[in-house]
Amino acid sequence: MSVEARWVAFRNGLLANPAFHRFAARFPLFKPIAQAEAYRLFDLTAGFVYSQVLGAAVELGLLEILAEGPKPAENLGPQLGLAEAPLRAFLRATAGLELTECLRDGRIALGSQGAALLGDPGLKRMISHHRKFYRDLDDTVALLRRGGGGGEVQSYWAYARVTDPSGAKSAEVADYSQLMAETAISFADDVLDVWPLTPYRKLMDVGGGEGAFLSVVARRAPSLKLVLFDLPAVVERAEARLAASGLRDRVERVGGSFSAEALPTGADLISLIRIVHDHDDPVVLALFRAIYAALPKGGEILIAEPMAGIAGAGRPTEVYFSLYLLAMGHGRTRSASEIGDMLKAAGFRRIRVRKTASLLPFGVMVAARDN
Ligand SMILES: C[S@@+](CC[C@H](N)C(=O)[O-])C[C@H]1O[C@@H](n2cnc3c(N)ncnc32)[C@H](O)[C@@H]1O
Repeated sequence: MSVEARWVAFRNGLLANPAFHRFAARFPLFKPIAQAEAYRLFDLTAGFVYSQVLGAAVELGLLEILAEGPKPAENLGPQLGLAEAPLRAFLRATAGLELTECLRDGRIALGSQGAALLGDPGLKRMISHHRKFYRDLDDTVALLRRGGGGGEVQSYWAYARVTDPSGAKSAEVADYSQLMAETAISFADDVLDVWPLTPYRKLMDVGGGEGAFLSVVARRAPSLKLVLFDLPAVVERAEARLAASGLRDRVERVGGSFSAEALPTGADLISLIRIVHDHDDPVVLALFRAIYAALPKGGEILIAEPMAGIAGAGRPTEVYFSLYLLAMGHGRTRSASEIGDMLKAAGFRRIRVRKTASLLPFGVMVAARDN
């Protein structure tokens, strides 16, 4: 047995032993560690309730009500449609999560997490759409046994249901496209902070949704030519959003499926923002090859998405995205080195990796077509 395996077996033997816990909880040197470990374990046990309370706070509009200022608890009951006892229980729970806080005079105010969430409409939208994910996770063992997919998350993402999604209808892509547009704004600047686009002439954002990322690029790189490539139904929806931000003439739009046809040429930078993790390895490899073929010599590919192993990735990537993508039925979170190997297999060289300051564990990778 290796030293590591021996140490893990020894540690686990102690941790699984109730007598050791009783000893540790009384021994002054171990007491704080024992208490912190016990807290962590119960925190983990209670985690699903935290998410449900968060979801209910968003659904009831509690944060918006408190954004008007602190309110006596009894005034909140009629506004939220809750009787006194459930209201008290709910407010204790939201205070425990720092979504709200009880002031000394007894009024209820926004808590620090509540205020931060109020300032992030994309995250609120994401929390609302989790109802579907909760239903898939209602029987997580069944989800694992069937190998993923087959539930509400997979139906939500029209392109996760079929091999060639070019024929997806507007109604099928509307909800996810809106969700993506609302959540893209929050990290687009973080990506551009670590990889400025000034050296490039023309950027094509593949799977660019309704053009939210390109809208931020347009502001930061005024002379860069921009192309949006996505499914025809998504590109159609993008027109309204781009028109609203005065970008309809600046962004060229191309509808198509990257899994069914060659990509347009002419861009010296092609971006994949939150795309790679949605797809299985053969699709990703084919997409990298298609991008390589569409780029000129010296052209580059830019990838940005939550990556495993990025400093600070921790639970959000390892737990949330792993299960989310399993529920989608395709894709997986990959480390920068796994993505790098696939880029090399497609012919790319000079692979560079950056970490963004985004709240999510976003990694940015750039690689070049050298010949
Ligand atoms: C997770 S969303 C990311 C959208 C956008 N890049 C962002 O970060 O907001 C994935 C996008 O890829 C698009 N997509 C999926 N499969 C595609 C395909 N075969 N061809 C073109 N676009 C596709 C979807 O329509 C969707 O807009």
